[in-house]
Amino acid sequence: MSEVSVSTNISGIELKSCLYNASGPLCTTVEHLNDLGLSHSAAILSKSSTLKEHKGNPSPRYFENELGSINSMGLPNKGYLYYDSLASSLLKYEKPYFVSVSGFSLEENLCIIKKLNENKEVTAIELNLSCPNVPGKPQTGYDFQQVKLVLEEVFKINKKTLGVKLPPYFDLIHFYSMADILNEYPLSFVTCINSIGNGLVIDVETESVVIKPKNGFGGIGGDYIKPTALANVRKFRELLKKEISVIGCGGIKTGMDAFEHILCGADAVQIGTQFMREGINCFERIESELKELMQSKGYKTLNEFKGNIKLIH
Ligand code: SIN
Repeated sequence: MSEVSVSTNISGIELKSCLYNASGPLCTTVEHLNDLGLSHSAAILSKSSTLKEHKGNPSPRYFENELGSINSMGLPNKGYLYYDSLASSLLKYEKPYFVSVSGFSLEENLCIIKKLNENKEVTAIELNLSCPNVPGKPQTGYDFQQVKLVLEEVFKINKKTLGVKLPPYFDLIHFYSMADILNEYPLSFVTCINSIGNGLVIDVETESVVIKPKNGFGGIGGDYIKPTALANVRKFRELLKKEISVIGCGGIKTGMDAFEHILCGADAVQIGTQFMREGINCFERIESELKELMQSKGYKTLNEFKGNIKLIH
């Protein structure tokens, strides 16, 4: 299988494979980030960082079943200076280091992005516009005016490779309106999608919700969300200018799932729920399944099928 390559490129950033971690599980501490460095994850992406260290929501705040996960972590993280300061020690892994940013206000985001811009060892920034789990704070990605305002201000100060992580959209008019906004700015990538916000999972045995924050409401991931993720990847690939890479995220647990995301137009994919479930080995397993599938279809590179989903006429 040596002739099959899953290498890719996100706006000029070379990745040895198209698979890396989603900002969420197991990317909060230096130990987590070193594990990602040692793994087959093609990049190291940090937990979404805020201005100050943040404990997040009370536990239990994560639950999974055979169909996926629900979480209301509430952005527990070590604060952006921690992720900024780790960049030099992660260089030895020779893979891109992305820092996710999710300040609690526009001012916080600008302050964090400004500082990260000064650090050459941070490869890129993923600005998270879609966390559904901070009580009292709406997801920025659903407030179109606010997204425009945020991007306007961000690109006054940002010179780095920067992309945004979006919430899922469900109506075509929302895809068109958001794409029109995103196309106005020098974004390098969009990540589609964050969890489907404010779902509810119930334990019938105990007749109870399964997580504590927000009376059991939380972001849904895993198999539950793959069709929504695919639709978002597909639609944004169609609507965004070609300089903006699309990163697929949602429901990837096998090589076949990754293949589907790429067929819809993803340039790379992120693993969240399955990474949490399986640990670091998921990257190597999914990569080898993807290569096997590509070989069985006669594909040697991702470009041979990326975005080529067929329609029924
Ligand atoms: C969380 O920490 O609540 C999850 C991160 C996210 O959904 O953006």
